[in-house]
Amino acid sequence: MVNNNIVAVIDFGGQYTHLIARRVRDLGVLSEIFSWETTPADLISHNVKAVIFSGGPNSVYDKNGPKISSETMSFFEKEKIPVLGLCYGLQFISLYYGGKVIPGKKREYGNTIMQISDKSHLFKNFDDECNVWMSHGDKVAELPEGFKTTASSENCEIAAFENLDKMLFGLQFHPEVVHTENGTQLIANFLFDIAKLVKNWSMESYIEEQIQQIRDEVGDNRVIIGVSGGVDSTVSAILMHKSIGDKLHCVFVDHGFMRKDEPEEVERFFREDLNFKYFYKINAQKDFLDAVKGVSDPEEKRKIIGHKFIETFETFEKELEKKFGKFGFLVQGTIYPDRIESAQPSKSAAKIKTHHNLALPEKMSLKVIEPLKELYKDEVRKVGRLLDISPELIERHPFPGPGLSVRILGELTQEKLDTLKEVDAIFIGEIKKRGEYHNYWQSFSVLLPVKSVGVMGDSRTYEWTVVLRSVNSVDAMTADWSKIPYETLAVISNKIINNVERVNRVVYDITSKPPATIEWE
Ligand code: XMP
Repeated sequence: MVNNNIVAVIDFGGQYTHLIARRVRDLGVLSEIFSWETTPADLISHNVKAVIFSGGPNSVYDKNGPKISSETMSFFEKEKIPVLGLCYGLQFISLYYGGKVIPGKKREYGNTIMQISDKSHLFKNFDDECNVWMSHGDKVAELPEGFKTTASSENCEIAAFENLDKMLFGLQFHPEVVHTENGTQLIANFLFDIAKLVKNWSMESYIEEQIQQIRDEVGDNRVIIGVSGGVDSTVSAILMHKSIGDKLHCVFVDHGFMRKDEPEEVERFFREDLNFKYFYKINAQKDFLDAVKGVSDPEEKRKIIGHKFIETFETFEKELEKKFGKFGFLVQGTIYPDRIESAQPSKSAAKIKTHHNLALPEKMSLKVIEPLKELYKDEVRKVGRLLDISPELIERHPFPGPGLSVRILGELTQEKLDTLKEVDAIFIGEIKKRGEYHNYWQSFSVLLPVKSVGVMGDSRTYEWTVVLRSVNSVDAMTADWSKIPYETLAVISNKIINNVERVNRVVYDITSKPPATIEWE
């Protein structure tokens, strides 16, 4: 999307890179992530008007640490593009212009009081002192020529600097995290007072622009979309429908791994609430279950389900084409973080498990439209609200594409699926009833292939164990187990044992991520 007002966040691999971009967007300015290897040509083609360097896990002295080329650095200087360096970003600027960075005596991590010595620009309207969030080992010991210190803390004399001639600014701390007092004001001062940007990024204007763009692109073609009932595909479908009306054909593959009553709810929503003319529900439950019969390995199950999905969708598309003629486009609900690889070394390292949203392959001979590809999840939710989608759907906990199939360990059977659906409905129903649902980021149940002895009435039982799992997280990269009240857990456990046959033991997972993952499988 071309905007005349873009802030480039240059990624040095820091854990907060996406958070910086989100903060800028929340202030009404479009921000995108760029690799540290970016070139002036790339920045010019995106209309970049200001730059923020992220933090990063390396030391600026690391041989293989990320370094911006002198060509790009000269471009910023020549064009007077303001640059704000955060943490590693500040250290990089400092070293690049001839300053000195040294290893700190001790790592500084957490809140620190900082004294501000110059309140003319970045710290405009700040008090003399401010509480900030530090997370660094190295620090700047000597400034390059032409730079001046604008704030200091006890452990870090050069906590902030600036060079107005070159339009360079640096902060050793993180204004993007909520623990930094007035961090948003600081970013706003950079955007509006220093870089003189204008607020023109809003979801209202995004919707308007997208509708026009989609209409121009689609023309008279017919368009097909796969929906799952999740937020991204639903918002994509509604935005498309608003743009092109009944040229949109919506296909919902019911693979049988949805939660209790969910397929019917999805169908009712599209047919009755939204009144879509072309909505198709494919009942492929048996097909999918047959395909994974006898398979216990989790990756193998995921692969089979992924392939089956593609096969089912393609076959149905061919059927539709016989009736309506060829489709011109396929819509995908890709969102911004799906597209942006972080420079974080840990991300490229070990692939823990194959995540796929039953994605349709590039080999399908259709052009792809991704109407949400510029947006973060919270922005997708905002668009959803503006399109009048009910809060209940918009604020739902995340649900994996392959659904309950990744929550039944070992072989999948109809009996196990039915059991887990009942258990999950009780768990989620109870936390909703108690008004606790939105206290947790994601909650669900898992069925273990384990039987144990119990006693009910006077008889011995030998039945399955289910796990309740609930976590709090920001982006699913890390998660902490939720502290559900004992009272709630007690009621849920009781209801499950009394209402679900074949289960005689309920356990609660108290592991965070890492070391565990959120799902079991
Ligand atoms: P893990 O288990 O890797 O999960 O900690 C992180 C988040 O991703 C969700 N998840 C998926 N989401 N398709 C999805 O859309 C998938 O195949 C998939 N597998 C896991 C998981 O529910 C959690 O929110």
